[in-house]
Amino acid sequence: MKIAIMGFGTVGSGCYEAVQAAGDIEVKRVLDLRTNPQIEDILTSDINDILNDEEITLVAECMGGIHPAYEFVMQALEHGKHVVTPNKNLVSACYDDLMACAAEHGVEFRFTPAAGGGIPWLYNLQRQKRCDRILEVHGIVNGTCNYILDHMYTNGADFDEVLKEAQALGYAERDPSSDIEGSDTQRKCVLSSNLAYGTRIHESDVPTLGISSILACDIEVLKEQGKVCRLLMNSGVVGDKLYAYVEPTVFTKDALEANVKTNFNLITLTGQNVGTLSFYGQGAGKMPTGTSLAQDIIDIRDGIGFAPAAADAAPAEVDNAAVAHRYFIRACESCAPDLADVTECRTQRDGWIYIITRPVSVPFAHAFAKDHPKAFVAGIAE
Ligand code: HSE
Repeated sequence: MKIAIMGFGTVGSGCYEAVQAAGDIEVKRVLDLRTNPQIEDILTSDINDILNDEEITLVAECMGGIHPAYEFVMQALEHGKHVVTPNKNLVSACYDDLMACAAEHGVEFRFTPAAGGGIPWLYNLQRQKRCDRILEVHGIVNGTCNYILDHMYTNGADFDEVLKEAQALGYAERDPSSDIEGSDTQRKCVLSSNLAYGTRIHESDVPTLGISSILACDIEVLKEQGKVCRLLMNSGVVGDKLYAYVEPTVFTKDALEANVKTNFNLITLTGQNVGTLSFYGQGAGKMPTGTSLAQDIIDIRDGIGFAPAAADAAPAEVDNAAVAHRYFIRACESCAPDLADVTECRTQRDGWIYIITRPVSVPFAHAFAKDHPKAFVAGIAE
């Protein structure tokens, strides 16, 4: 099998290395604007060198972002080439178009590493769905945030310093605000939910809080209470509606999630038949993600199918109003009146107030967080 890789950054180069172990997969072309002596003889900056090469039957898109990745992927599909990608921005925003184009041209479009990095999460979620009804999915799906939260907890490290480390290790996005503000997790929640429930929700349906406002003193306060913070995606089915949201979440230190270290992810589904099923592994990084992409390539080579929900699946209404739990909130004294009616317990420290709320709805807590961007708001796992 002859393939091309578009984009030779962290994941593209990881995929290049990983497919070498697969035997008869030859990387015939790499599309990238940068020079690179390692791949000089196969490097091109012209997409037509890939599109017009009939020997190339599969393209791995590793450029990231939506444009020009969308146009290049659509052209590859239209030229009858299978496409694999770890690009959650692209898949989350353009899923229907891409799946429809692949179906029309009789080729495959696969994206296992787009949520969970090295973990075959989306593949197994879809597989479980063949003989089960998925009721709920939740988990830690951003390696960068987990790395930051874990290192702040374990080493008392400073947020900016650990973020730089996560960038140097190739975990963070080019624009790390999508990691720390939660939109990367939001996209993975969209992909997971749409596969899990056969619906079409969009990024704007998933209210999202990130971790950028967390302070070292928040971690300290939680640690003293035997608690650990992680960034979590959550979605599930209630009647004919879905709930879906992303927020930092406080766990007791013996919870599974609390023990997920560095760039690792832990993602869990609940099926009506199987019950709880969790997947654990490295959620970001060159070789974990590159290997997961190589697995998609090998599956296509070997004719191992993947049949995600049809592109015309009905859209679902997301309604979080009925989801309520307690929240841990650090805010300034002037915010206290906004929480007066829901405060269960309140302390003061380092000039801040720390509040544990009574159970409040997700929309209430997220609205408070949006109105008070310096506050830190985290759900409490009960
Ligand atoms: N920036 C992402 C993360 C990369 O940190 O999880 C993998 O999707």
